[in-house]
Amino acid sequence: MLKRFGVAVDEELLDGFDRLLASRGYENRSEAIRDLIRDALVQRDWRSGTGEVAGAVVLVYDHRRRELQATLTKLQHQAHDLIISTMHAHLDHDNCIEVVLLRGSPKELQRIGERLIATRGVKHGRVVATTIGARLP
Ligand code: NI
Repeated sequence: MLKRFGVAVDEELLDGFDRLLASRGYENRSEAIRDLIRDALVQRDWRSGTGEVAGAVVLVYDHRRRELQATLTKLQHQAHDLIISTMHAHLDHDNCIEVVLLRGSPKELQRIGERLIATRGVKHGRVVATTIGARLP
């Protein structure tokens, strides 16, 4: 069921919000506000450390780095119960991008994500926090 509510907002703040929505392709404020609420709920789920969430770890590294690929593979095998899938692509002659899809407790996902990113030789990494969607209207 849809419920309506009024919000009092400073004019300047609302102008900024409207410009943001336009640049992101939102057709109206309602859908943008729903997305902001859902994002806040997902962030809360991750911060709570409990329940089940989904996420992705993105890694960029040079595959010629000694032992790096073996270390990343070992870490992923140790976390096989959390990893749904891994995608690897070759960016150029030396650089690889890897996306590791995860599902499980936020604490464990954060831990394996940070461990992969902290592995020596990984140039850049990011943990993307999202939801399994089931309890998010
Ligand atoms: Ni590669």
